[in-house]
Amino acid sequence: MTAIIVVMLGLIVFASAHWGMHPPSRVETIDSTSLHKGGEFSEANLGTSIAPDGSAVVRVVAQQYAFVPNCVLVPAGVSVTMRLASADVVHGFLIQGTNVNAMVVPGYVTTVHTSFQNSGERLMPCHEFCGVGHQAMWAHVRIVDANRFPFDEAKAKAVSCAQ
Ligand code: CUA
Repeated sequence: MTAIIVVMLGLIVFASAHWGMHPPSRVETIDSTSLHKGGEFSEANLGTSIAPDGSAVVRVVAQQYAFVPNCVLVPAGVSVTMRLASADVVHGFLIQGTNVNAMVVPGYVTTVHTSFQNSGERLMPCHEFCGVGHQAMWAHVRIVDANRFPFDEAKAKAVSCAQ
């Protein structure tokens, strides 16, 4: 048994040191009970904005049982930062066919950096059981060619597929 423990601890040290695997180090807290009252995750800020450096910032609220916005619009080939907050319980999200896969824990902001190379539609389901409506909780991510993305509009306000 001691040998098993030593081997497992050794694997953790190996993975941390060799592959740079580690839990998220940048902890950002937020009051999940007042997301709708204003601040970064108020309704008008949800969706995709273009930052001054040209990268995209996607803000999404996860709540029982939907993501808001329900369809995320992003340009292909552009650096994307996804920022998610939960309004109630623990949710999870992944984007099919990408490296995006994270938990959304109430009280914290989940930040994921990625970029999408090809245009197309991808599903973004909640993958953490969050209640009776869990299986119906999913969103779409619509990746469009950069020349079809409304950059000017997204510099002024957040956009999503429904625009
Ligand atoms: Cu949200 Cu499962």
